[in-house]
Formats: sequence, C-alpha cells, structure tokens
Amino acid sequence: MSCYYRETNMLYGGDYNPDQWPQEVWEEDMRLMAQAHIHIVTLNVFSWAALQPDEDTYDFTKLDAVMELVRANGLKVCLATSTGAHPAWMARKHPDILRTEKNGMKRKFGGRHNSCPNSPAYRTYAPRLAAKLAERYQKFDNLAAWHISNEYGGECYCENCEKAFREWLKKKYGTLEEVNRSFYTAFWGHTFYDWDDIVLPNYLSEHFVDDATGVERTMFQGISLDYRRFLSDSMLECFQLEYDAVKKFMPDIPVTTNLMAAYKGLDYQKWARSMDFVSWDNYPAPSDRPSQTAFCHDLMRGLDGQKPFVLMEQTPSVTNWLPYNRLKRPGEMRLLSWQAVAHGADAIQFFQIRRSIGACEKYHGAVVDHAGRADTRVFREVTQLGEELEKAGGLFLDGRTPAQAAIVFDWDNWWAVEYSAGPSILMKYLDAVQDFYQAAFALNVPVDIISTEDELLPYKVVLAPLLYMVKRGYEEKLTDYVRQGGTFITSYFSGIVDEHDLVDVGGYPGRLRELLGIWVEENDALPQGEHNAFSYCGRRYPADILCDLMHLEGAEALGVYEEDFYAGMPALTVNQYGKGKAYYVGTHANEAFYQTFLEQVFLQAGIQPLQQTPFGVEAAVRENVRGRFLFLLNHTPEKKTVVLEGRYEDLLAGRIYQDHEELEIEKKGVCLLREL
Ligand code: GLA
Ligand code: ZN
Repeated sequence: MSCYYRETNMLYGGDYNPDQWPQEVWEEDMRLMAQAHIHIVTLNVFSWAALQPDEDTYDFTKLDAVMELVRANGLKVCLATSTGAHPAWMARKHPDILRTEKNGMKRKFGGRHNSCPNSPAYRTYAPRLAAKLAERYQKFDNLAAWHISNEYGGECYCENCEKAFREWLKKKYGTLEEVNRSFYTAFWGHTFYDWDDIVLPNYLSEHFVDDATGVERTMFQGISLDYRRFLSDSMLECFQLEYDAVKKFMPDIPVTTNLMAAYKGLDYQKWARSMDFVSWDNYPAPSDRPSQTAFCHDLMRGLDGQKPFVLMEQTPSVTNWLPYNRLKRPGEMRLLSWQAVAHGADAIQFFQIRRSIGACEKYHGAVVDHAGRADTRVFREVTQLGEELEKAGGLFLDGRTPAQAAIVFDWDNWWAVEYSAGPSILMKYLDAVQDFYQAAFALNVPVDIISTEDELLPYKVVLAPLLYMVKRGYEEKLTDYVRQGGTFITSYFSGIVDEHDLVDVGGYPGRLRELLGIWVEENDALPQGEHNAFSYCGRRYPADILCDLMHLEGAEALGVYEEDFYAGMPALTVNQYGKGKAYYVGTHANEAFYQTFLEQVFLQAGIQPLQQTPFGVEAAVRENVRGRFLFLLNHTPEKKTVVLEGRYEDLLAGRIYQDHEELEIEKKGVCLLREL
C-alpha cells in the first residue's frame, strides 16, 4: 500500500474544474474520465469567490453537487482549499491582503497567489474556509487527500511583512546586538539602534538592479538571506494554519500542497517536515534535458526521507506560458509519466481534465480539449497510459531507489551563492549541482538528493557542489563521514562563509580545510568565453567560471592548471582522511570531465551503474516487497538496443529476457522490467 493516497493501486487523474462549466458537461466528463481509466480528481483549487461571496456567507451548493457526482461515479477526490486566490470583496474590504512588490508598489486586486502571507485577513479567512470544507466533507469516504492552497510562492514587501520580519528576527536573535553582528552592520555604518530601524530589504533599501547585467544585487547579504528565510517561513505558517484546520475534522486524511521542484523562493526541505506527503507539478520546457526532469523528481523524493511522492500536475500535451509552446510529441507524455514513476511517483495526475474556454489558460493542454471528443491523439495517449497504470496495479507502490550516492542540496546555499557580490555572476547554484547530477545520470548511477540535515553514512559517495555556506557543525558531520570511510566531493568556492554569510577567517575553505587538505589563497573569475585548462586521466579539460588558486596541505593534486601565472598550481585534489577520501574540484569544467571524474570515483568507491545503456537511454530502479524493477526510458527519437545484465520479465509485453539478451526500445519508448 502506498503511504500517500493510501491506495493499493497507482492513482491516475488530474485537476478538474467543473465550476467553470454548465452542469450538462459534467455527465460527459464522467463518461470520458471512465474511458481514460481516470480515478482521481483534484477539485476546488480556485473557487474561493464562489464558496464565500461575502464576509459571512458561505455557499457550497455547487461543490456539494460536484462532490456527490464524482462519488457516485467512483472517483476519488484530492480536495483543495481554494485559498490560492482571494475573492474581490476581500481585497476591497481588507486591503492588507494585497501584496506589495519589491519596488514598493502596492498591488490591486488581480492575478492569483496574490495574498500577503502576513495579512491578518488572509490568516483569518483562509483557515476558516479550510475548516468549513473539512467539516462539510468529512463524511466523504472517497476523499483521498487534502491539497492546501496552490503552488505557494512569490514575495511580499508590505508593512505587515516588515513588522512580522522584525518579530521573526527578535525570535531568532534575541538581541539587537546579535542582529547587528550577524548582518555585519558595522560596514557602512548601518548599525540599528532600535528594532524599528530594521526595514525589509528591497529596492527601497538594500537591493538594486545592476545596470550592466540586469542582475538583482544586495548590499547586505545577511538581511537579504534572512528575508528569504522569513518569507518561506511566513508562507509555511499559512500552510500550517490550514493544515491544522482540516486535521481538526479529518485527522486521518493526508495533507499536501503542490510544490514546484527547484523553486528558489521556498525552502521545501523545511516545508516537507510539515506536510504528510510531497506532491509536485512537473512542467519541463521542451528544451529541458531528461536529466533536469530526473533531478527535479529526485529533489522532491528527497524532501521526505526518500519516500515516494505524487505527481500532482503535468500537461497531457502542451503548456501555454512559454514563448513557443511545443506539443509533447507522440509518446512523450507517456515517457515523462513513467520517468516520474521510475524516480518515485506513486500517482500520476494532469492539469487538467477539460480545457477552459476563457482567460489565460484556454490554450493550455487538457485531457479533453476544446473539440470535446475522445478521438484525439492526446486523449488516446492518456487512455493508453491509464491502461498501463491499471495493468501495473500496485506493483511499484512504495518502491524505493537504492541509491549509494547522494548530492547535498541546500536552499540557504542557493540563496547565498546568488546574493554574493563577487567573485562571478556566472556562479549559479543549480547549474553547479546539475554538473554533477547530469554526470551520475549519464552513468546510470542513481543518486538521492539530501539536505544538510540528512544522514551521510548510508552513502558511499556524498557530493556537495558549491558548498559556499557551511552551517555551524556541518563540517563535523562531513569530517565524521569521511573519517569512517566515506568519499566526499566538493567544488570551487566552498567552505567560505557561515550561515550568516560571514567569512570564516584563517584561509579558505574555512572549516573544511583540514578535511580537504588544501588552502585556497585566491579565486580567479574568468569572464564568459575565457578559460584555463587542466589534465585529468590523460585528457585535457577547460577550466572556467572560477579557478581556485590553492596550495596542498596534505592533499594530492590530480590535475594542475596549465596556463597563466598559476600554471602548475592544483586544480583538482584528493585528500586521504581517516578511512575515506575528500575531493576538491577547484574549478568549473565541461560535461566530459564530470562524467570521467565521477566514473572514476564511483568505481573506486564500489558503486556500479544499474545497467549499461546506449546514449539517451535512462535506467532507473525502484525496489519494494514485490521485487526489484528496472525502468528503461528511451529519451531519443530513434529505436535503441540494450543488452540486459540479468534476467528480467517485461511487464507490459509479458515476455522473459535472459541475461545478455538484447532488448529493443522504440523511440521515446519505455520498458518496465521485473528482475527475476
Ligand atoms: C500550475 C498551476 C495550475 C495551472 C497550471 C498550468 O501548475 O498549479 O493551476 O495554472 O500551472 O500549467
Ligand atoms: Zn506582506
């Protein structure tokens, strides 16, 4: 049984907005959903205006009818609380609910995800509505989960937020002296004398847009970092208020909110601790590489201890917000869906069931498009996937990924690296993580994405790319891990600051110096297009973005710079420490390097690829009490042949493959195998 929807089969469905349609259409929707093997609908995502037309009136007539209808048709419900967009009357009567932008501009009513997270009105009315919904629908035994609000995100810079920020800081630091120390306000004489001197960091205070690059900068990283943390916490508090409201009536029904994978604004690792299960919306751009989508799944799986997640939304065919909204080619939706399952999804859902006819999402894909017919390519593909998921039943549920390598991902580092004034605007945290992730992906080595709170000892190799910020005590965790035999990899510009973005003096990489056996004396930022070079394992690679100039203090150089005044200085090092090893990749290189490097490291650490595959064919594994399942995913537009390593049963074709037998996968095709 899956711990999420508490189902014995994998659920399949999507967002359903019957409130935008006349009732005659509903019956037809029921018929079409049954035909497509859909058994769950997410309801009520944006219905606040209809449910609460004024301060004291609540009107559930339409939702009652929909709830009855879907229950009568055997559909499960993921019930949303509708608080992702407030009603117009609320904005009129309680303008504190409106957000203020970074430049100080107070918004009027409009858009969605538009409520100030510190607005007293929002914090009153949102949980009140959630409670009313839970009270009303608690008897519905087809309610599979609660979906709080929708895609929390955005920012607010209003006066309520400013006041709440001061309170947040009081709680965190206790005294103003401690705030001044942490924000380093001795610089430029920014010392605060009174709590009211603290203003939130935006374009009216410490932030500005750099004319040359268009990049947003801050003059004080400490306060800007804390404002990010504060906004993430503020929205999490809103989630928690609604969570508590529904739990009061329905303590046993799991609660989630739909996340957005690598969304910079919210520290999802912190959020996941308050959610019963993780769900997320997958909208890869047509130009995204398969490894980028795989990374998002792994990031989401890692939020809650590597437990499976729900794919809450994906488009069956097309999005509408890109400049060019390319159709998913035949087979692509199926491939992306099975990729989600391969990485830990226990349910597959779409946005949305029926395409709207007005406003900004009318050209967004849906299971049923404007023609309203079932004889469309998209509907056929949705139906085929429904049949396959039904055939798989509960086989993959609660399956875990047997990863022996982990990548540390940390929102604080993401924020800090990209607020850093120098050494280079080309340092992008996500890119630095992807450099290593893509290499592991290409090698068919599964990785877990973990937080700085997670245990390291279960892994043979731990990578922490661009670990610029080392939070107090984390150096001990890393050191213990390596001492006991672990292999640790980090990269350029790591070990520089503490959690307040204050530099650790005494030489970079600060508290990681002894573990890495190096001293980084300077960092050379190369403008785009320029590079140095180094050789590793007999091949020459470019060194760009940042070149750390380092000295060995016990480590061994595996590659040295070959050009400029620092030619001969180490670019890549390894340090034997206790029973383990710590690598430092002192520069940014190309894809070929990361792949060769990780291949060597994995080999030495005893990590085997899951399966050899031709270029563009992904291999992923899930294991549960029912077996070990190998997913082969052909991301290329050509047929590919894989020579299997082991005996397998093809679950869809129903045939047996012997060890070393060749298996053909059609273009954009999928093979689901059970190890025998
Ligand atoms: C998001 C939202 C949905 C819808 C889709 C469209 O994921 O959660 O309400 O707007 O995008 O792609
Ligand atoms: Zn606000």
